[in-house]
Amino acid sequence: MLAKAIAQTPLICEQTTATHSPYNRAFFLKGASLVADKRYSCIGLYNPKSPENVGSVMRAAGCYGVASVFYTGKRYERAADFVTDTKRVHYDIPLIGIDDLKKILPLGCVPVAVELVDGARALPEYTHPDRALYIFGPEDGSLDQEIRDWCEDVVYIPTTGCMNLAATVNVVLYDRMAKGLNTRSGPKFR
Ligand SMILES: C[S@@+](CC[C@H](N)C(=O)[O-])C[C@H]1O[C@@H](n2cnc3c(N)ncnc32)[C@H](O)[C@@H]1O
Repeated sequence: MLAKAIAQTPLICEQTTATHSPYNRAFFLKGASLVADKRYSCIGLYNPKSPENVGSVMRAAGCYGVASVFYTGKRYERAADFVTDTKRVHYDIPLIGIDDLKKILPLGCVPVAVELVDGARALPEYTHPDRALYIFGPEDGSLDQEIRDWCEDVVYIPTTGCMNLAATVNVVLYDRMAKGLNTRSGPKFR
């Protein structure tokens, strides 16, 4: 019965009538588009210093629905125990080590350097990309000129002195959330 129903179902056209299948999902509604135009954000950590730093970032990533987190460098190892990631977010959100953050830019995603430097754009006035890869420097350093030049935008938070890494990540993600549908393409993105 089920095999017959599936065979008769045109791809991405009709809603299947099978009620017991785990695949009986709304994806198959008539007229549904393959392209969701979904907003998302990713995080890139440039040579993070410690598992505590990465754990706190993972905690923020979980709170704000970040799609994935990438990191470079050897100072921190994925196997390290994340004392600050008490929600064990690293089991839910992919945490991926890479030798160069420039290699993992998802198609259609805008790289945004977050650094307290001259010439950066102030976060409160910034309109976020629909799809963004936010790149942060390490606790004991900064993003170098090369990575800032590669990023499409450089943004800063107008603080007196710099914040710690996790605080910065939380502020950027909160700002993105607070601005809601007001990303570059507006409400046409979901
Ligand atoms: C603790 S800070 C780096 C330390 C800092 N460079 C120093 O002089 O001690 C870690 C990272 O957080 C981010 N950050 C901290 N405060 C920031 C701010 N006000 N605006 C933008 N980025 C900030 C940057 O990505 C920075 O590389």
